Amino acid sequence: MNELLEKVFRGKKVLVTGHTGFKGPWLLAILHLLRAEVTGYGLAPETKPSLYYLIGGDRLCRSVIGDLTDREKLKQVVDEFEPDFIIHMGAQSLVRRSYREPLETFQSNITGTIHLLDVLRFYEKPCQVVIVTTDKVYAESGTGMPYQETDRIGGHDPYSTSKACCELVTECYRLSYFHPEKIDQHGKSIATARAGNVIGGGDWCEDRLMPDVVRAMSHGEAVRIRNPRSVRPWQHVLEPLTGYLMLGAHQSRDPAGSAEGFNFGPDLQDTLEVEQVVQLALKAWGSGRYFCEVDSHAPHEAALLRLDSSKAKSRLGWKPRWNAHTAVLRTVQWYRHVLEDPRDALDYTFHQIQEYFNTRS
Ligand SMILES: NC(=O)c1ccc[n+]([C@@H]2O[C@H](COP(=O)([O-])OP(=O)(O)OC[C@H]3O[C@@H](n4cnc5c(N)ncnc54)[C@H](O)[C@@H]3O)[C@@H](O)[C@H]2O)c1
Repeated sequence: MNELLEKVFRGKKVLVTGHTGFKGPWLLAILHLLRAEVTGYGLAPETKPSLYYLIGGDRLCRSVIGDLTDREKLKQVVDEFEPDFIIHMGAQSLVRRSYREPLETFQSNITGTIHLLDVLRFYEKPCQVVIVTTDKVYAESGTGMPYQETDRIGGHDPYSTSKACCELVTECYRLSYFHPEKIDQHGKSIATARAGNVIGGGDWCEDRLMPDVVRAMSHGEAVRIRNPRSVRPWQHVLEPLTGYLMLGAHQSRDPAGSAEGFNFGPDLQDTLEVEQVVQLALKAWGSGRYFCEVDSHAPHEAALLRLDSSKAKSRLGWKPRWNAHTAVLRTVQWYRHVLEDPRDALDYTFHQIQEYFNTRS
């Protein structure tokens, strides 16, 4: 594992919101290897299959099934658990669903984040907090230039807008209640983390590329690609999760200096078109076909997204370890392995985490 992360997180109390989705169970597995004590707060797993159930998430954390819109319940959990760190990932995370359910998306993502930050106003212990947003918080520039942390925040669809609001709300609470210059008084370091599209084993969400690809390949069907020319910064789920933890670790050493926004994207050569990713996945699977069927009625989704992660590299020492090819290969290997032997899901997840940390960054 990683020496710095082991040193910082061993025996520490970490509250993870959104522990029952895709990234959550991977984070629980890493924190288990780091020997942290974890409480999870989120809704019951929604997908079938569910990565949380597959890896036996209840063995890796104390799981609280609760809604972020329930401020009192969230406050009770924070007050009882007394976390040293909070990784806030709980959110309605799907763009297309956000078009169908804008109100629910705004409530979970914006109100949920406000509730967490507000609960922290009354929490007396020091705490390092990472609010997870997305690369979609940047107002579309249309230039194709990689987004930097100083670029304008803004959204088009309800999901992106909700996450852009999370950035603004966080900034508001940071300036109003958790000002870095007054860290000695309140003890809270609040940072935000913006990552790109992630892939990895165990994602079964609707309308995401790799789950669609795996569903088709495992049924021997052709993969349907909706936006073959869309370019995304593809990265393995372990990349941003390591970034969130390195940010948290940095906050614990320099709470005032790291209470800011950080990008965690892949290297620029790993921003690939959707069609290229599907080709890589089929090659890794060993067989399969695809066809492109552009949906002309599809709601707007940003076509080109690139992130400049030089700040995370220079300030946190974070760097991607797996390029897009390896990320796709490891993802396909995970699905292949676990679909064949679901009982091995947790051990294989641990195996890939070790493999990741054994790769030089
Ligand atoms: N997956 C990606 O490609 C990606 C990319 C960038 C950012 N993100 C962000 O990372 C975070 C985790 O993403 P994911 O892929 O695991 O998402 P996911 O949809 O798989 O999981 C979302 C989690 O949030 C919880 N949640 C949703 N609404 C909630 C509510 N009202 N109250 C309590 N919990 C609630 C769910 O129960 C689940 O545990 C999200 O904040 C997402 O916006 C994801």
